[in-house]
Amino acid sequence: MTLASSIRTIPDYPKPGIMFRDITTLLGDARAFRRAVDELVQPWAGTKIDKVAGMEARGFILGGAVAHQLSAGFVPVRKKGKLPHTTVSIAYSLEYGVDEMEVHEDAVVKGERVILVDDLIATGGTAEGAVKLLQKIGAEVIAACFVIDLPELGGAKKIEALGVPVRRLVTFE
Ligand code: PRP
Ligand code: ADE
Repeated sequence: MTLASSIRTIPDYPKPGIMFRDITTLLGDARAFRRAVDELVQPWAGTKIDKVAGMEARGFILGGAVAHQLSAGFVPVRKKGKLPHTTVSIAYSLEYGVDEMEVHEDAVVKGERVILVDDLIATGGTAEGAVKLLQKIGAEVIAACFVIDLPELGGAKKIEALGVPVRRLVTFE
């Protein structure tokens, strides 16, 4: 079993021309899920990570597991209107649309070391928005970590240009 072989591809979802990389098959395979979380955690084992930030919705599943492994807190980066306390928000675009995301203004203490986790980086619009939000509320964003990178869409380069190193486990052309 490889991580790549545990990911299903659905052509033309949610729009014509998109090759949708579906991680539900990875999540449903106990060995693949464990391997993905272990590989995401591996560079940070033994280092001080205060919080893991995960992007709604798929980033919650992986980010929660990574936070548990690192004994770190978890920060949900949510789509607009879902968080009950005072938020900061940012508009962003992704491979197949536009949206707005938010984080609680008190989700981190200034200077806390945070890693960002999501299932996939495509154009990088989502991750860029999340990095900017986290920096705005005082986080030191140490890295952005993804199971899947679609390098042709340039997202990882966009995040590295912000000075945030990118870790990815699998690439699909
Ligand atoms: C997907 C994926 C990433 C984002 C990547 O989330 O989980 O968060 O797209 O795309 P980008 O690099 O082009 O910004 P989506 O917004 O579809 O939300 P979901 O997790 O709720 O399905
Ligand atoms: N998010 C943005 N692009 C995607 C894709 N091709 N597959 C799954 N999630 C995505």
